Amino acid sequence: MSTISLRRAVRLASVIILATAAVCCVSQTRADELVLYSGRSKALVDPVVKMFTEATGIEVAIKYGKTAQLAVAIQEEGEHSPADVFWSQDAGALGALVSAGMLAEVDEQTLTLIPQAYRGDDGLWVATSGRARVLAYSSLRVSDDALPASVFDLTDPQYKGKVGWAPTNASFQSFVTAMRKTHGQDATRAWLNGMIANDAQVYPKNTAIIQGIAAGEVDYGLPNHYYLLRFKAQDEDFPVEQTAFSAQDIGNLVNVAGVGILKTSARQEAAQAFVAYLLSPQAQQFFVSETFEYPVVNEVAPSAGLIPSDTLQGEAPAVDLGSLEDLRGTLDLLTEVGLR
Ligand SMILES: [Fe+2]
Repeated sequence: MSTISLRRAVRLASVIILATAAVCCVSQTRADELVLYSGRSKALVDPVVKMFTEATGIEVAIKYGKTAQLAVAIQEEGEHSPADVFWSQDAGALGALVSAGMLAEVDEQTLTLIPQAYRGDDGLWVATSGRARVLAYSSLRVSDDALPASVFDLTDPQYKGKVGWAPTNASFQSFVTAMRKTHGQDATRAWLNGMIANDAQVYPKNTAIIQGIAAGEVDYGLPNHYYLLRFKAQDEDFPVEQTAFSAQDIGNLVNVAGVGILKTSARQEAAQAFVAYLLSPQAQQFFVSETFEYPVVNEVAPSAGLIPSDTLQGEAPAVDLGSLEDLRGTLDLLTEVGLR
């Protein structure tokens, strides 16, 4: 072997070692074990997987990671990916796998369980729960006639310095992606700059926005719907309320967590059973009770204090959720306007 080819061989070996390391935690799985890549947290996923195994006898090996990174890993692994199922924190990452041609069709019977808006084109993924963007406000300092009709109104002088937002939050960024898709890049840039000029207050995350409203730092905020419910569960008099903007306003975006099956999976039947299980009343009720997210099946009601699921669907803007995959473009725009 010449020196050059030896070097090449060493390099190749280290690539193989690296590739193996990237899938370390599931490479030792048994042939009959379903392999789940999960961008959703262990605290939420482990109990549901346990319920699934008890109900079906199917064992599941789980690789946890950040949604975007797992979606990239699956694409890099290509047809050798050990993943059978990908459970994503948002629809955009599923859309990326659809674009890459990597997802298999979900069973027809499973698809009929949930509304059209909560499934991917061609039935290539299904939502497992939903989260709505809302307008939170101080119930002590804001009267009904001061509630804006549109998220675009928040650049008006009457809201100067009074609105809290969390530009580094993933759900906020998905919302910006949806605004770019729906209203265009220029209108979105103008809104972001308008908010900055109107002295929107930056918070590190959604929880802090709600606390900021309660503490009197700001009067309004742009979080996901479930954060306030967590505070209300502790204290029903917590002095913050939330509402939707006018019907179909982009500020009412409903995004979803969802799941898709890899075309390359050799365990299609078990994978289909897992996806169907996530839409079962037991699993849906667990998400609702545990996270206050919206269920995606009609038999399960959302938490008390939330608008019903069908009302929510009427309020939400019509956005193809799977098309919200251009996070890169949103991050570039946020950098451009100085928000990151
Ligand atoms: Fe969240």
